[in-house]
Amino acid sequence: MKRVDIKKSKGVALITGASSGIGEAFAKELAAMNHDITIVARRQDKLEQLSAELKTKHNVNINIIPADLATETGIEKIEEYISCTKDLDLLINCAGFGLRGDFHNLDKENISQIIDVHLKAPSRFCKAAIPVMRDRGYGYIINVSSLAAFFPFKGSAIYVATKIYLVYLSKAIQKEVRRYNIKIQALCPGVTNTGFHYTEAFKDFDRSTVPKNLWMQPDVIAKKSINALKNRKVVYIPGFKNKVMGVLTQIGNLIFP
Ligand SMILES: NC(=O)c1ccc[n+]([C@@H]2O[C@H](COP(=O)([O-])OP(=O)(O)OC[C@H]3O[C@@H](n4cnc5c(N)ncnc54)[C@H](OP(=O)(O)O)[C@@H]3O)[C@@H](O)[C@H]2O)c1
Repeated sequence: MKRVDIKKSKGVALITGASSGIGEAFAKELAAMNHDITIVARRQDKLEQLSAELKTKHNVNINIIPADLATETGIEKIEEYISCTKDLDLLINCAGFGLRGDFHNLDKENISQIIDVHLKAPSRFCKAAIPVMRDRGYGYIINVSSLAAFFPFKGSAIYVATKIYLVYLSKAIQKEVRRYNIKIQALCPGVTNTGFHYTEAFKDFDRSTVPKNLWMQPDVIAKKSINALKNRKVVYIPGFKNKVMGVLTQIGNLIFP
């Protein structure tokens, strides 16, 4: 069966981390394409604001599911929703947050939470979505990783490890589900202007140390990622400079392991 272009498909897209940043940009982009969406995050008020805004602009169905993906209850709620949503055609695992500091000094609660949100939740949601998409005849999954997945830099051990997990998870699953007409993308954005760098973990982070022209906008990331779904490649790095950095880092990792 031929895969339906996501821009023309009339199914439901589920987006985690839709209350802010890249996830919110995906929700806006998909609603503008008249795609029905289900939006997930902890902050229900933000999801309601977004839903109200999008409903005034577009003729789409918007479903809100508040859930904390650092909890088993939150993960099960979304997992069950996915299994029951027979017209699910796009899953975007975008929820995430940063964790900085020397590994041995990290708070163990934060370590568990980031592993649950970045690894456990996306793995369980992919597992739930694949049978639904297989039965539907096609589907798309975007796992939001990071360019940082290729930079194992000091003070970022857990964050980069969870992000490289998403790259390998996506690559391996793609080999299994190509026969079901399912496309997986590991989206690896570089620095992006969102709420990400405004949390407690980044309170001592000087944003001006990152050159201005490296910062990308979340709406650009979302558009590029959706356009790239037609490509065969699993790993997608948006932005030319980020692509160059990604390639150079991988070469560097081979030469200086
Ligand atoms: N910004 C960057 O420079 C950058 C670069 C590469 C990759 N990324 C990745 O992009 C993704 C989105 O981040 P962003 O930049 O858009 O940051 P953001 O604006 O801070 O958005 C993060 C989203 O994740 C949700 N989230 C966090 N913890 C959650 C939890 N326990 N349960 C449910 N939802 C949770 C937040 O919603 P609630 O707080 O309402 O729950 C929010 O919607 C992340 O996976 C991040 O690692 C970001």
